[in-house]
This record gives sequence, C-alpha cells and structure tokens, in this order.
Amino acid sequence: MCVDGKILSNVVSSQLAHGEYGGVIPELASRLHQQQIVRVVQKALSEAGMTAEQLDAIGFTRGPGLLGALIVGTCFAKSFALGLGIPLIDVNHMHAHVLANFLSENPPEFPFLCLTVSGGHTQIVRVKNYLEMEIIGQSIDDAAGEAFDKAAKLMGLPYPGGPEIDKLAQSGDPQAFSFPIPQIGTYEFSFSGIKTSLLYMLKKELKNDPEFIQKRKQDIAASYQNCIVHILLQKLQTAAEAYDVKHLAIAGGVSANSELRKRFTELCLAKGWTAHIPSFEYCTDNAAMIAIAAYYKMQAEQYADQKITPFARMK
Ligand code: KG4
Ligand code: ZN
Repeated sequence: MCVDGKILSNVVSSQLAHGEYGGVIPELASRLHQQQIVRVVQKALSEAGMTAEQLDAIGFTRGPGLLGALIVGTCFAKSFALGLGIPLIDVNHMHAHVLANFLSENPPEFPFLCLTVSGGHTQIVRVKNYLEMEIIGQSIDDAAGEAFDKAAKLMGLPYPGGPEIDKLAQSGDPQAFSFPIPQIGTYEFSFSGIKTSLLYMLKKELKNDPEFIQKRKQDIAASYQNCIVHILLQKLQTAAEAYDVKHLAIAGGVSANSELRKRFTELCLAKGWTAHIPSFEYCTDNAAMIAIAAYYKMQAEQYADQKITPFARMK
C-alpha cells in the first residue's frame, strides 16, 4: 500500500510449498495465489491502517511471469477496482523492479542504467523517466537467477538456490574453479554454458570422489558466483561507458546477492558513478515495487480498462 509515493505496508506471501519440489510448480502457484490473495490484501490494508474505501486506485502486475498466478491477480484487481469504483493500473513486473530504486531516500537521477537480474530475466535497461525504459541488452538463454537456481539444484541445495549459493560462497575461494566466459554480443548475456560446464565438472569430479560436492561446496559456490557477478558487471560497465551515464542501479532478486552488491558498489566508486541498490526487501518480488510503479502511472493518468489481460513474456 502506498500513499504519495511512501510505502505503508508491503505484505509478501512467500510460497514455501515450492521448496518441497525443488522449483516453482505453475499449477500449485496459481492455487496458492487463489487461496492467499484476499487474506494478503486484507493484511496490507490493516497494516497500513486503511480501509478499502480510502483507496484511490488499484495497481497490479500484468506480467511477465507465470500466467496462472497472473490471471488470479488480474481478476482480483479488476473486481476490486470495479467494486470500489476506482481506476485500475497495470504494472510491468520488470519496470517495477527498476522502480524499486525509488523507494530509497536518495533515488537515481534520469537517465540512468539499471541491471535488472531476476529468476526469469537479465537485462540492462536505459531508464529515461518513470514510464519509459529501453532494454539495451538481455540474456539470450537462461537468466542470472535461473543460473544460480540450476547450479544449486545440481549441488543438491534447496530451492531457491541463489541465497544458498550466496551463503556458501562467503566462506569459499572464488578462484578455486574456473568457468567459461561466453563470447557473445556486447550487451548480451548467456548463462546456460556456465551451468553446463558446472554439470560436467561435477560429473567428472564425483567419479573420482563421491564426496566432492560435500567437501568443496563453498569453493564451488564462490567460484560459480564469481563468474556470474564478473559477467554481469563487465557488461554493465561497458554499457555505462558507452551511454555516458552518471547513475547506475541494480534490481531484481539477484540484486540481493551480497557479492554483486559489494562489487557493484566498488565499481561505481572506482568510476565516479553513483550506485543505487534497493534495500534487501525490495529486491526479490514484492508488493511495494508494484505500488510505487502504479503510483507513477497514476500521476500520468495511465489507467487500464476492464478488458486488459496478463502476459507471460516481456513486451
Ligand atoms: O525477482 P525475483 O524475486 O523473482 C523473479 O522475478 O524471478 O527473483 C528471484 C531470483 C531467484 O532465481 C533467486 O535464486 C534469486 O532471485 N536470488 C538470489 C539471491 N536472492 C534471490 N540470487 C543470488 N543471490 C541471492 N542472495
Ligand atoms: Zn521479479
């Protein structure tokens, strides 16, 4: 819930059930959304100390994401707005990640570049204003978060794997193993080769020593993470130099990664760029970023109509 761009409540119902299956099961996600949505909205209102009648507009995520879950949110938002007689505002999930940077005390100045890294996307975005963003480069295969999650799965770690790898890496040697750096377009990313290289390395080492993962998990995590962070920041640096921006930001679930946060800050310091990193709770998917994105669209009077439908892929 947000008033004048200030967040009053940010209720996130994490779907722990997916952990049991080692990944998100789309049908289960839709059912859990269906079960939780009324309770979550009621909690958001009560934590903000507001009633539904005091709301001016309803913002919701239209996509990209899992279609079943998005349909639940879209239907609820439409009904809620219709029932209250207030406007409906659709929000692009990836734009909202970028705009999470405006929930801080010192927001970025336009134009700036944002490295948006989540479970489904890896993008370098040129942000012109609150509403206009241009993707200047993205992943041609797996997203950075997906690369973390798949590596964690290969190592037998719980889902989601990103935070697990982050934790293990803190006591590992980032130079212990090396992974191939893909040779592709200047602003393009590719992470599937790194994951495959980890798979082959693990297979080979496990033949010699079945305890290999157990013994070296910290070093594997640190080396793998080091490779991903290196690629992300190297591309971002090239883009920042080419586009001559003074402010840089990171966003999305992977921006919660401690090594990425640290090295991004160091890079910006060395180059004289101002670094922007959302606070931890606004990196992974959250309601506050959708609220702030809807707030900016409301100021521009960009409303959705009742015919609107969600989309699974970025448009
Ligand atoms: O933005 P997000 O919450 O959901 C999507 O839009 O996909 O991002 C989730 C992704 C997952 O792949 C998760 O493993 C990754 O963000 N993630 C991390 C960390 N925390 C979450 N990856 C690396 N290090 C972390 N600390
Ligand atoms: Zn997300």
